[in-house]
Amino acid sequence: MTMELNKDGRRIRTMFSGIAPWYDFLNHFLSLNIDRHWRDRMTKLVPPQGNDPILDVCTGTGDLAIAYHHAAGGKIKVMGSDFCLPMLEGASKKNSRKGLDIFFLEADTLNLPFPKNRFQLTTVAFGIRNVSDTDAGISEMIRVTKPGGRVAILEFSRPRGWLLGNLYLFYFQRILPLLGQFFSKSKDDAYHYLRNSVLQFPDGEQFAQKMRDLGLQQVSWRPFTFGIATCYWGTKSAST
Ligand SMILES: C[S@@+](CC[C@H](N)C(=O)[O-])C[C@H]1O[C@@H](n2cnc3c(N)ncnc32)[C@H](O)[C@@H]1O
Repeated sequence: MTMELNKDGRRIRTMFSGIAPWYDFLNHFLSLNIDRHWRDRMTKLVPPQGNDPILDVCTGTGDLAIAYHHAAGGKIKVMGSDFCLPMLEGASKKNSRKGLDIFFLEADTLNLPFPKNRFQLTTVAFGIRNVSDTDAGISEMIRVTKPGGRVAILEFSRPRGWLLGNLYLFYFQRILPLLGQFFSKSKDDAYHYLRNSVLQFPDGEQFAQKMRDLGLQQVSWRPFTFGIATCYWGTKSAST
């Protein structure tokens, strides 16, 4: 049975505002800390190149922006944008605590406050699934990326194979929403939303095809940790 998902922007912002204080702890706890490793792996698969800036959209508490800052040795300007201020406050605190100079700003991924062709790389981790119009969000990421630059997306996916697939479904459907709800006390049922949004989101070749249909070239994807997450990346045409 497919549950109707409400991805209205205001609802999504309110939901993330509610869980912001718990977000990092629950991310690391519920994924057994593997999420950190996924972001680092992404920076190696789709590394910074040259000197142009990098933008991480739906940056939340900024972990992917921070991973790219480190991957670039602090030498490239990295920015992180999100439309949820309490999540960005977490990002800013980490930024100052670690003495980094990442620039975080409040912005809707559907309407980024940047001219076209600005970034060498535009990224998103576990965010595009939450944007109310996925295709428009990816198109906006492509718009701000330089011709010949790359768009990279890290997102949950579903492991294939009977044993792993069923173990994953059991954890994701039964355990994770209970633990998430227990700790976060989310009024918006954020961890049931997480389960439903992941199970309904396209993954693997289907998602890669969506990126091609939206105009990206040389689209590739790599499953991480038996396919629990997948990294997708593609290049914006050099002649745009
Ligand atoms: C699951 S969190 C991911 C945060 C971070 N990228 C990470 O790797 O942990 C999803 C984030 O997407 C943001 N988001 C969802 N829709 C958005 C939109 N239209 N514009 C900007 N941010 C959005 C939420 O506010 C939230 O911070």
